[in-house]
Amino acid sequence: MHTDTSMICSVLLVLLWCLATGINLSSCLNHKGPDLKEAAKSLAKGHQDHPVLEFPKSVGLRRRKREWAIPPISYPENERGTFPKKINVQIKSSLSKENPLWFGITGEGADQPPKNLFTVDKNSGWLYVTMPLDREKKDKYQLQAHAVARDGSVKEQPMDIEINVIDQNDNNPVFTQDTFLGSVPEASNKGFEIMTVTATDADDPNTDNADIRYTILSQIPALPYPNMFTINSVSGAILVEAEGLDREKYPEYTLELQVADLQGKGLTGKGKAIITVTDSNDYAPQFEKISYNVSAPENKMGAVVVKMPVTDGDEPQSPAWAAQFRIINGNSGGFFNISTGPNKQEGIITTVKPLDFERNSKYILLVIAENEVQFAKPLTTSTATVTVNVIDVNEAPVFDPEKKTISISENQEVGSELTVYTANDPDTAKSQKVTYRVGSDPAGWLNVDKETGVIRVKSYMDRESHVVKDGRYEALILAMDNDPVPATGTGTLVIELQDVNDNPPVIEERSFKLCNKQSAPVLLSVTDKDGPGFTSPYNADLVGDGQKNWTVRMNSSRTGIILELKTPLEQGEYNVVMRVYDSGGLFQDNSVQASVCDCTGDEVKCARIGEAGFGLCAILGIIRTILTLLLMVLVLLLLTRKKPLSVDSRTTEETAGQDYQEHH
Ligand SMILES: *[C@@H]1O[C@H](CO)[C@@H](O)[C@H](O)[C@H]1NC(C)=O
Ligand SMILES: *[C@@H]1O[C@H](CO)[C@@H](O)[C@H](O)[C@H]1NC(C)=O
Ligand SMILES: *[C@@H]1O[C@H](CO)[C@@H](O)[C@H](O)[C@H]1NC(C)=O
Repeated sequence: MHTDTSMICSVLLVLLWCLATGINLSSCLNHKGPDLKEAAKSLAKGHQDHPVLEFPKSVGLRRRKREWAIPPISYPENERGTFPKKINVQIKSSLSKENPLWFGITGEGADQPPKNLFTVDKNSGWLYVTMPLDREKKDKYQLQAHAVARDGSVKEQPMDIEINVIDQNDNNPVFTQDTFLGSVPEASNKGFEIMTVTATDADDPNTDNADIRYTILSQIPALPYPNMFTINSVSGAILVEAEGLDREKYPEYTLELQVADLQGKGLTGKGKAIITVTDSNDYAPQFEKISYNVSAPENKMGAVVVKMPVTDGDEPQSPAWAAQFRIINGNSGGFFNISTGPNKQEGIITTVKPLDFERNSKYILLVIAENEVQFAKPLTTSTATVTVNVIDVNEAPVFDPEKKTISISENQEVGSELTVYTANDPDTAKSQKVTYRVGSDPAGWLNVDKETGVIRVKSYMDRESHVVKDGRYEALILAMDNDPVPATGTGTLVIELQDVNDNPPVIEERSFKLCNKQSAPVLLSVTDKDGPGFTSPYNADLVGDGQKNWTVRMNSSRTGIILELKTPLEQGEYNVVMRVYDSGGLFQDNSVQASVCDCTGDEVKCARIGEAGFGLCAILGIIRTILTLLLMVLVLLLLTRKKPLSVDSRTTEETAGQDYQEHH
């Protein structure tokens, strides 16, 4: 009960204090509790109608000086009237009872800049302010109060005084930017946050003076509705208020903004927001024609079937404008593909598989157009129907099968039938006649019946021919239709020739040399053009009287003949005839020439004169011829001299006579 009373008392005192100092009640009440209490105490002690700041010593608290807190003085900014103006505060000291005192103040706003803003009546202790205060410049001053006896005998300890400048609403709120820029996709829904604007107010943020609110004053254009946007009055966020933004019609809005303090009722500031409406995919591409009737050739891949232009209301070249296409029906066989043309406003259908008129002569395709990005809102998708008529073209007859393989033995009679190889004409819609001929027949072995496709032997075939590879002979047969522009199909006939033992074994070597004494056996190799089964192992016999002078046997693989001289023969040329058999029993007599030399062992040297002396004989012969010629020339010369001798006989006789005379 007692505490309650004291509490009520102190609250009342605080209120009194606040009223007495003439300050804003709420800000006064905002002061700290202890300060209030102290202020109340101080007030109670003084029993004055104005606040009194007493030096602590006089209330006997010298020892507890630090705890002695003087309540701050509040004084409003922007005071008008005559200056110096009394602040309703008086400094006092109990010392003044005994001694007349001087009062003084020091600190910022007294003896430090801003100098002499505050003054004190040195006799009475009343505080004065000499000019209007500005909270936005300086909101608090710390001063020290001094009291000293006029005779200098005593002196108070300096006492701290705090003067708080009370805010007045003397500043307009100001937007932080002249113009705020923002953008909004046209398909945005109500509530879409576009941007946030901000403003500041220099007044005390703890008061309503700086409590600002935002509003939109106007919207240009006011279309399609005047209130397309709203602003959060506290946060400054600008939101979409109504749907119906349309970039294509109203690409930009200018909002005139206002900010006002005192929660929207005080001073105002103006601002501007420019909002650009950006494109959303709010238009679907539209086919210019919804139905096409086109034709496409059969059997052609990559043929352009149709080009389908579209239009789109969205921003050109944007993904919301660029078209994409799909065939949603009629392309189950996958014969068609649709792609977007380079201008992005055109669908192009091409064939990706050869069309077949005979199988399906008409396709009905359903095509839809979309954009590269999804529609921003539900839109009706444009569709087009494309009727594709397949054009019949003359197709070549097709052999069945395209490559036919038959297997026959190589010794077919000329004129015998090998096979029937025919082609079918795919052009079932036309009635065409197919005829046949040989296209390629390297060995000229085949005949084909023009009408029936029956293939016959034209000349004997040979598995061992060089045009036969691995026993296979390839020929090309052609089939032509009788269209005005004929088409020709080609079939490949592969004839596997089965071997017949039609080739006897052959000794490769035609001749050899050996010595007639102690010569090593001669190895002769045997070959046979036939295939396996008709070749080695071979057998060989000597034929005729060769047996007298030679022996013959096969080597171990029976692919070579070992021939040996039985008796030393005279030097000379001998024919050795051997009958060689293949494994199929087919044989042939092979004649080999043996040059027998008169020598011993393996170093074959034929010392026969006719051969060894040939060089010398030839030279001697040449010399002899030359000598003979010389002799003939000599004889001729002698013959031609006979006549001049008889003519000049006198001279000779004279000469002779002279000789004679000389002798005699
Ligand atoms: C179809 O066209 C598209 C677009 O040009 C392409 O990417 C795709 O490979 C084509 N498909 C076929 C099977 O050709
Ligand atoms: C066998 O040798 C004799 C001489 O020794 C010769 O007269 C004869 O012609 C030879 N016969 C054959 C077939 O070489
Ligand atoms: C037999 O002779 C043939 C022909 O000269 C040869 O190719 C083959 O290698 C010989 N066989 C043996 C086992 O020496």
